[in-house]
Amino acid sequence: MRSSTLGLVPFFALFGCASPTPAPAPNDAQEINTDSGALSDAQEINTDAPSPADVPSDTGRRYEPEPFVPTDATRAYCAGRDAAAIEARITGLLQTLTPTQKRSLMAGAALGRTEDVWLVRGVPALGIPGFRMIDGPRGVAVLPPLRATAFPTAMLRGASWDPSLEERVGAAMANEALSAGATVLLAPTINILRHPRWGRAQETYSEDTTHMGSMAVGFVRGVQSRGVLATLKHFAANSIENTRHRVDVRMDPRTLREVYLPHFRRAIHEANASSVMSAYNKLDGLYCDNNRQLLTEILRDEWGFQGFVVSDWVLGTHGATPALTAGLDLEMPSPLEFAMIPTEIANGALSERDLDRAVRRLLRAQFCFGLDARTVTRMPELRETMAHLALAREAAQRSIVLLKNATIDTAPVLPLDASRLRTVVVLGRSAAVANIGDYGSSAVPPSSVVTTLDGLRARAAGAFDVVHIASSTLDAASLAAVRAASAVVIVTGSLHSDEGEATLGAGDRASLALAAEEVALVRAAVAENPRTIVVLESGAALETASWDAGVAALLWAGYPGSQGGHAIADVLFGAVEPSGRLPFSMPVREADLPPFDNTSERVTYEFLQGYRHLQQQRTAPRFAFGFGLSYSSVRYESITLATPDAASSAPETSIEATVTVRNTGARRARETVQLYVSATASTTVRAPRDLRAFSQVEIAPGATVTVPVRFALRDLAVYDTTARRMVIEPTTYELQAGPDSERATLRATLTVR
Ligand code: GLC
Repeated sequence: MRSSTLGLVPFFALFGCASPTPAPAPNDAQEINTDSGALSDAQEINTDAPSPADVPSDTGRRYEPEPFVPTDATRAYCAGRDAAAIEARITGLLQTLTPTQKRSLMAGAALGRTEDVWLVRGVPALGIPGFRMIDGPRGVAVLPPLRATAFPTAMLRGASWDPSLEERVGAAMANEALSAGATVLLAPTINILRHPRWGRAQETYSEDTTHMGSMAVGFVRGVQSRGVLATLKHFAANSIENTRHRVDVRMDPRTLREVYLPHFRRAIHEANASSVMSAYNKLDGLYCDNNRQLLTEILRDEWGFQGFVVSDWVLGTHGATPALTAGLDLEMPSPLEFAMIPTEIANGALSERDLDRAVRRLLRAQFCFGLDARTVTRMPELRETMAHLALAREAAQRSIVLLKNATIDTAPVLPLDASRLRTVVVLGRSAAVANIGDYGSSAVPPSSVVTTLDGLRARAAGAFDVVHIASSTLDAASLAAVRAASAVVIVTGSLHSDEGEATLGAGDRASLALAAEEVALVRAAVAENPRTIVVLESGAALETASWDAGVAALLWAGYPGSQGGHAIADVLFGAVEPSGRLPFSMPVREADLPPFDNTSERVTYEFLQGYRHLQQQRTAPRFAFGFGLSYSSVRYESITLATPDAASSAPETSIEATVTVRNTGARRARETVQLYVSATASTTVRAPRDLRAFSQVEIAPGATVTVPVRFALRDLAVYDTTARRMVIEPTTYELQAGPDSERATLRATLTVR
């Protein structure tokens, strides 16, 4: 089957070059234990620290690093390994390493990559392996001619609302990272989607922190289950692309603590995320890498994070002393600022203890994740395996969102029935192109891409004709073909030229509007054929209300990955039930959203955005956060609350609701039961409702199921700006269960005293 093959994309050309002074290539003779992809448990850490006699003698100086006593947090971070022995080993190394050696551990090796990875050198003679880093959230960003599985973008995967599926995707990406000789995957991106015009909307999961946190936990667990380190990025408030290197993002403490940070905390506490990447932007006046409140007071002192903080690339570090003292540990991709460390020590601005703090975190990560017991060999055959391609297809199948499905002649337009089709006409600028996402750092080069046209042709397999009209303007003959078609499928939306990472990709979207010629094409097709189906591919929301009225069926397919064409055909023909639910709101018009300012040097993020903003404004969305149709129909029948009251002094209390749901249709349905919480009696400003939990269940036709949905009482906490901590307000809370943020109509009352 014909499929499109990616040409060399600009991004790789920019960053693909080997560094001007390439670091020594890893020893090719080294072997990696990836036969099963599993890391042998037998590979124990070499815990008997080399005695000073075994290592190159330093200058004979006697240096006593600060003593370090392991804590519960360091033991948790080092789960499964001897944390005390590792900390003792690190202390011994801090005695032995010279300041120059320490500084070399705290920065990348070169501006460019070395054999596909960003190198952070170790000290092999001392058993210190360093790191080998590679992007990203969509798969392993190897450099052509190498190839890797291009999974659906994270925002589409977010529409699966299935953290266990995301865990499988994380594990697969980690196996591919290992096969590329990497030990750190620079993912997930978990910046809140504040506005769909953000250029990297495709890279994150959601506009909601609860949903984001659950997907991030799944992904990190998957990645780190293979012994690869995950990196939470970009910490924090990186939700604008065009001004990302200089914008000063301002927000009140509640907005920071309740909207922009909780999912980072959850990925650390619930998935032991090993590292965090500081964001380029400023937060409340300080660059994130210089923001001590962010990197030390919140991340370490409050959350107990024991891993390391890595800068964003090239322009992500602002001064060795302010960055190190704020809590940055590693400058990437090379020591542009950290080159000043010797000078800063000489002039007394920094001490060797400042280096020790960073080196301890970096070595803790290397030893606790067994990188020193690992050897590295690149094994390209472990990428784009049949299993990974099948998983990419499954992830897309489970995430595609059915937004509209009209009834024509007493039957819904979808699913299509191949036996009743003569000709399907395929239109739209995205129908026959490899539309797998932007050309920024998250770009992945697959061997080939199954376009929607490919997928439909494979599905037809001779049972019906598939006619592709590439032109966006329809001449008489094309209009006649559209008119005569059994169905028309238009694949349109955004391309990499419309949105992406700044500098490397297209940056922020100019608007939410579909290109004018594509709107005209949709209108022309609708005028000729009522069975016109539109498949939207984009990073996040687009404006559809101005043209979707006559469209019989509408689907959102994100950027569906290298197997996306098959997945789209699978959904259109009912080979799989559509079960995706929007991880963002689709407004009727852009003006319904908070303003998106991607030109000012200083912006303020408000407490309410996405559905929380629209509901506060009593503005109906075109399609709601959490919305998605199936080919069946489901009725929400009842909710019962196991714990109708709780003590605010017991934050770990589990609040469990049981929701009864019936499948009233004739087809299986995979339903995502969503639980929102309001607190109308509260004395605190709150969103009209907040998502607090969700559960997914498959329901056979005609069956009724009871679905447990639970959260911890502490998830109701709000940030008390006076007490400067999260507090649970004693009041009544309305729990609301339903299929999405607009139809959560089953109610139960929780009293917190
Ligand atoms: C980029 C991105 C970051 C990526 C890094 C390395 O600037 O902001 O997400 O991991 O550089 O490619």
